Formats: sequence, C-alpha cells, structure tokens
Amino acid sequence: MSESEKTYRVIQWATGTVGKAALKYFIENPVTELVGVYVTNPEKVGKDAGDLVGLPRTGVTATNDADAIIAMEADCVLFAPLNMAATTLDLICRLLASGKNVISPAGPFLPNKWFPDETARIEAACRAGGSSYHGCGIHPGFSGDILPLTLTRLMSRVDCVEVTEIIDKLRNPMIYTEVMGFGADPEELLANPRRSPETYKYFYSSMAMIAESLGQTIENVTVKFEVSRALKDIVHPHGVVKAGMVGGQHYEWTAWVEGAPLVVYHFYWQLGEDLDPLWEEGEARYRIVIKGDPPLECHLMGGKDADGRHPFLGLPWTGLVGCTVVPQICDAAPGVVTHLDLGVVQPRGLVRR
Ligand SMILES: NC(=O)c1ccc[n+]([C@@H]2O[C@H](COP(=O)([O-])OP(=O)(O)OC[C@H]3O[C@@H](n4cnc5c(N)ncnc54)[C@H](OP(=O)(O)O)[C@@H]3O)[C@@H](O)[C@H]2O)c1
Repeated sequence: MSESEKTYRVIQWATGTVGKAALKYFIENPVTELVGVYVTNPEKVGKDAGDLVGLPRTGVTATNDADAIIAMEADCVLFAPLNMAATTLDLICRLLASGKNVISPAGPFLPNKWFPDETARIEAACRAGGSSYHGCGIHPGFSGDILPLTLTRLMSRVDCVEVTEIIDKLRNPMIYTEVMGFGADPEELLANPRRSPETYKYFYSSMAMIAESLGQTIENVTVKFEVSRALKDIVHPHGVVKAGMVGGQHYEWTAWVEGAPLVVYHFYWQLGEDLDPLWEEGEARYRIVIKGDPPLECHLMGGKDADGRHPFLGLPWTGLVGCTVVPQICDAAPGVVTHLDLGVVQPRGLVRR
C-alpha cells in the first residue's frame, strides 16, 4: 500500500466541544477509520458515534468502559477529556503503554522543565508501548508557539513576540464562564484568580519553544492580572453577572530574556461591552504581534458568521489541530513528538470534492 492510501484506526476519547469536532473529523475523513469512542456521560453510552455529532450511523458505539478501550486495537487516540490532573496522566500512560499513539490537548502538555516527573512517565510509557505522544491545541499548542515561530521566518530581527487571545464570552458562550470567576467580587477574584499565578507553567513549553528556537533561554516569567466590572447586570447562557461584579479579565504573562520581554501572552476575556474598563481589543481572535524588523502583525480568526462577525473557534480548532497530525504521529518514531520534531505537517484527506 502506498503512503497516500494508508489509513489509521482512531479512538475518540471524550466528546465535549473539542472531542466532538475531532469525532466528526474522524468519521468524515477517509484517512481515518473510527474504531472506538469513550464517553463519561451515561446518556451517550450505547449511542452510535454518528448520532453524537449529527452524522449517519457508523456502527461504532460509544462506551464508558475505559479498560475495553485500552485493550482495543487502534493506531491512535485523540484524548480530550475534562482536565483532571492525576487520572489524566495515568490514562495517557496506560494508552501509550498499550501500544496506541496519543494526541492530547489536555494534561501534561509537552516536555517542560516544570513537569519533569510527568514528562519522564510519558516517555517511559512510550518506550513500553513503542508509541508516541503529541500535545497540541489552539493555545497552548498552536497560536502561541508553532504559528508565531513560523512567522519569524519573515523577519530579520526579533525583539519581542506578543500573542493575544481575545474572546467575547457573551458572543461565544463557554462552559468555563463561571468556573473562571466571571460574576465574582472583583477584590475576591484579584486575590484568588481562577487561573492561578502558576498556570503559565502549562504554557511554558510554548514560550520556551519560541525562545529556544531563536537560540535564547527564558530567565523568568512574570504574571499580571486585572479585572473589569460589569456596568449593569449581564445575562449570559450560564447565568447572570451582577452589576459591579467581574465581567472582564486580562491575564498577562511575560517571559524575560537578558532583562527584556521576549515572549508575552495576553488573554482578554470579556462578557460584552458594558464593562469598566472596556479593553477595546476587537473581535474574537488570536493576534500575533512581532516587534522587530520588519514589524509583523497576524490575526487568526474564524470565517465570518451570517451576521458578519467572526466567531471564536478555539475549541474546534483544538480538536482539528490534533486530527490533522494523526498520520505523522502514528508514523513517528516512539517517544514524545513536538511540533519541532514534526516539521511542516501535511494533512491528508482534507480535499474532498
Ligand atoms: N490546549 C488548548 O488549546 C485547549 C483548548 C481547549 C480545551 N483544551 C482541553 O481540552 C479538553 C477538552 O476540552 P472541552 O472544551 O472539549 O471540554 P468539555 O466540553 O467540558 O468536554 C470534556 C468532556 O470530558 C468528559 N468528562 C466530563 N466529566 C469528566 C470527568 N469527571 N473526567 C473525565 N472526563 C470527563 C465528557 O465527555 P463525554 O461528554 O463524552 O462524556 C465531557 O464532554 C480539556 O482538558 C481542556 O482543558 C485545551
């Protein structure tokens, strides 16, 4: 069989927003053959995978039997459950040790100096199973690492790489709204940010990928956090933010090299525009600004909706960036495979006329 005819047996683990985008991809793409679906929701158990995503029946039934999935023959698992630290790592290692390659936006992301034990466990499981692990997502996993790094090829000098995530959570509702502290008392949230000051460590692989690829070493990372208040009651799909409570959040993480910022991540999340202060960052997008010569700016947005606005596609993109790399991860040598190991990914089966 030629390389272009090769197909890959895949399992979709969890069917939340990210997992559903991946499941749909696997059913529709001729290069992947769906062989298993793991779900936790009892209402989904026993349902055909096609029914879970509004597609014709596939003959593959969703199960909540993790052991059965781990025992199954397959080439690759797209692992996208709710991020539950301890069980996440255990499950990833069991899947890897069973001989299946794992691609995941969750959990211990890429090799990272802050997570040496997790990295060592994943590497050991890859050795045991002769399998590969690849961590990717939209951010971390694409917009804040491989994308800006690729763009530096259009520069002759790089001073600072700034990556900004902008989401209007009123226009693009997400389950994370309350969990992330929207509606909380501003002073309480400032004292106890839901994205803890340590969270940058989960994104550190991405910052380090840029810095190290440019021949630099990050010395330290500083963290800033500010909130904006709702000017009136704001009703959103998951509740109400009362006037005066938190309606906007801005996180800023700066990676320093030789006393100057080299990589800066901003996250602007706002619930509409009745906010004080209102950070006028524009529509949902990832904005990459690279200061240097020549200066560069790149905006990554979803295509326009019928109302002419750009939706935030970060969650489906998180599934798709994993799906499109399945062949390369399955064909890679065992071990942890990073974006840098992959080179330019060449997705297959996307053009279907
Ligand atoms: N790197 C990135 O850029 C990025 C971006 C977004 C999300 N993520 C990560 O991707 C993962 C999926 O995100 P999502 O937005 O799809 O989340 P989601 O919509 O909440 O879906 C998570 C799914 O996990 C399953 N689940 C529910 N409770 C669980 C539990 N207690 N233990 C294990 N699994 C449970 C459910 O699957 P069933 O419905 O099938 O039962 C649920 O639908 C998360 O770990 C998230 O942190 C990463």
